[in-house]
Amino acid sequence: MVAQALLEVRNLVKVFKSGMMGREIVAVDRVSFNIEEGEILSLLGESGSGKTTIARMILRLLKPTSGDILYKGRNIWKLKGRELIEYYRQVQGVFQDPYSSFNPIHKVDRPLLQALKNLQGIEGSEALKIIRETLRKVGLNPDEVLGKYPHQLSGGQLQRVSIARALLVNPKLLVVDEPVSMLDASTRIDVLNIFADLRDNEGVSILMIGHDISLSYYISDRIIILYKGSIMEEGETDAVLGSPLHPYTKMLIESIPRIEEKWGRKSRIRLDVDQKPTAMSGCKFLDRCPHAFNMCTRKPNLIRKDNRKIACWLYKNNYNQDIA
Ligand SMILES: Nc1ncnc2c1ncn2[C@@H]1O[C@H](COP(=O)(O)OP(=O)(O)O)[C@@H](O)[C@H]1O
Ligand SMILES: [Mg+2]
Repeated sequence: MVAQALLEVRNLVKVFKSGMMGREIVAVDRVSFNIEEGEILSLLGESGSGKTTIARMILRLLKPTSGDILYKGRNIWKLKGRELIEYYRQVQGVFQDPYSSFNPIHKVDRPLLQALKNLQGIEGSEALKIIRETLRKVGLNPDEVLGKYPHQLSGGQLQRVSIARALLVNPKLLVVDEPVSMLDASTRIDVLNIFADLRDNEGVSILMIGHDISLSYYISDRIIILYKGSIMEEGETDAVLGSPLHPYTKMLIESIPRIEEKWGRKSRIRLDVDQKPTAMSGCKFLDRCPHAFNMCTRKPNLIRKDNRKIACWLYKNNYNQDIA
């Protein structure tokens, strides 16, 4: 029997209406994927590809237009009462800008105490003990952080406090949206290592959202390449980045201006491609694809190919069984 995934995203769609004319923006277009227990899954895509929208739906901050999100097999929109509070405890978010995640008029102690009180009913000296332990776990000296206002801390310190806030309540899944993009290079690696340790030592699952391939390469077990709201390729990190199948993934890797050997075997690769309008139907990568042919005016579903999933008509022989 195949073990149940921790989180299952099924045919997720989010359409925004924007402006006076109510123009429709399909931010997320039939996206399906699983997050397994104890893995780091990277969701990679350029700006505007729908990453934050997916994160907000998983965190229950935004309702999908259609599709389902199942946590341990349960539809997250059907959870109520105690079960819903458990969901909010077990699934925690960390966002890009720590300064906007904290209220500037309160000392950082307050949201930490509130998290423990609201989600676990822990208060007083027991709460403080857990807070101090958790701050130490993310590399902070509690005495340098507690009693301070957000602006009195550096971006790196405050992002660690924000990770500590997520960790206080023993989450099973962290959804981290560009958690290091505002930090300097050395702090980035320290913060990424906190996530790697959480996976390795505590079995926490992490959905790591970003646009920098090198960071995902450094830390993730699997990678999903998102383009304009649709998954182009998904698989184990080494397979996707080492032998990409989709023309878009290949383009991303080939367009790297330079590869610096950093952090041991890992290389620095940036995801940096300009955005152009796309045909309404068909493959979203059609107008930029060097291999486009007549079939590509129809949207390719995500199908299984070798050890990964791919949405591309170049692999039409594998299209006998759709999986998405
Ligand atoms: N609240 C909103 N209202 C209208 N459009 C939105 C809203 N949020 C996001 N979008 C649009 O949805 C698309 C995906 O946005 P987003 O999920 O933020 O992408 P990413 O995080 O990958 O940069 C973009 O075109 C963005 O402009
Ligand atoms: Mg975003």
